[in-house]
Amino acid sequence: LDNGVAETPQMGWNSWNFFACNINETVIKETADALISTGLAALGYVYVNIDDCWSGATRNSEGQLVPDPKTFPSGIKVLADYVHDKGLKLGIYSDAGIFTCQVRPGSLYHENDDAELFASWGVDYLKYDNCYNLGIKPEERGVDDPALWAGKVGNSWRTTDDINDSWVSMTTIADLNDKWAAYAGPGGWNDPDMLEVGNGGMTYQEYRAHFSIWALMKAPLLIGCDVRNMTAETMELLSNTEVIAVNQDSLGVQGRKVHSSGTDGCKQVWAGPLSGHNLAVALWNRCSKTATITANWEAIGLESGTSVSIRDLWKHEQVADDAVSSFSSRVDTHDCHMYIFTPQTVSHWEI
Ligand code: GLA
Repeated sequence: LDNGVAETPQMGWNSWNFFACNINETVIKETADALISTGLAALGYVYVNIDDCWSGATRNSEGQLVPDPKTFPSGIKVLADYVHDKGLKLGIYSDAGIFTCQVRPGSLYHENDDAELFASWGVDYLKYDNCYNLGIKPEERGVDDPALWAGKVGNSWRTTDDINDSWVSMTTIADLNDKWAAYAGPGGWNDPDMLEVGNGGMTYQEYRAHFSIWALMKAPLLIGCDVRNMTAETMELLSNTEVIAVNQDSLGVQGRKVHSSGTDGCKQVWAGPLSGHNLAVALWNRCSKTATITANWEAIGLESGTSVSIRDLWKHEQVADDAVSSFSSRVDTHDCHMYIFTPQTVSHWEI
């Protein structure tokens, strides 16, 4: 959507993956505080997004949505003011059906009133779900896949069912989201769902792969853990400025899986173009043992004679000055290495 926002994928936090319905205004305020005190806000994580369950069980006598009086007694405007004072932005959640997915009131038949209400509160961002939609199609022509229509009305759209905090879920979603790569670009991004980094169900290596691939796929980077209580490892992953820079690169082209080999294609190369003729390249080991993974220039769209300098975005160091025709690395099981390749002689990425 060409509305001046999301020129690069949105970054921030969302309550759902860690808190589900156990949210309240204190959690939201403390999260805003933590985004500032940890330094994450300064790295770009500026959206504080309240997901489902902020609303009371019914609309008021005027038909308006009301924040749950037990958990959000001060109302949403107070929260918007609170986060705005810190230079952050507030997101909220509603649903295109008669109920939200957690059976709070939905916005069907109240679209304009609800939009005006959110705007009057100072809300900056809306996540719009699709539960209890009475079978009404998003558009007359009845296309269900959001990538095919949502770019006209939104700045990102989900491509898959909900993520959960597991390796199987994360890898499955990465592959599904990959199929929609052609639809992503500045102003409109494929959303493979929010980050699970820091929630405990995956290893450090698996979370590093999750964060690397989401960044490379130009996914919205919405943190889904409790940022008030992060481990040093979680913070290290989420705050890698070099990986974030790949996600926020101005070219805005979604990186893709460009090569796989080994059992069930478990040795994978993902890559995509960046501004300035650079490439982002990830070597992702989805095998059950350590493996050597090779990126051939052909697979990543470089001519074989091209000399390339290579920077490792997790080691934060230069690992090759003049690699020619291929680059290999030993990668631990389920881990992912990520690089920027800078061709010394310019060649062209072919879409
Ligand atoms: C759906 C969405 C989730 C979350 C829940 C809340 O399942 O896909 O991201 O918003 O609803 O109920």
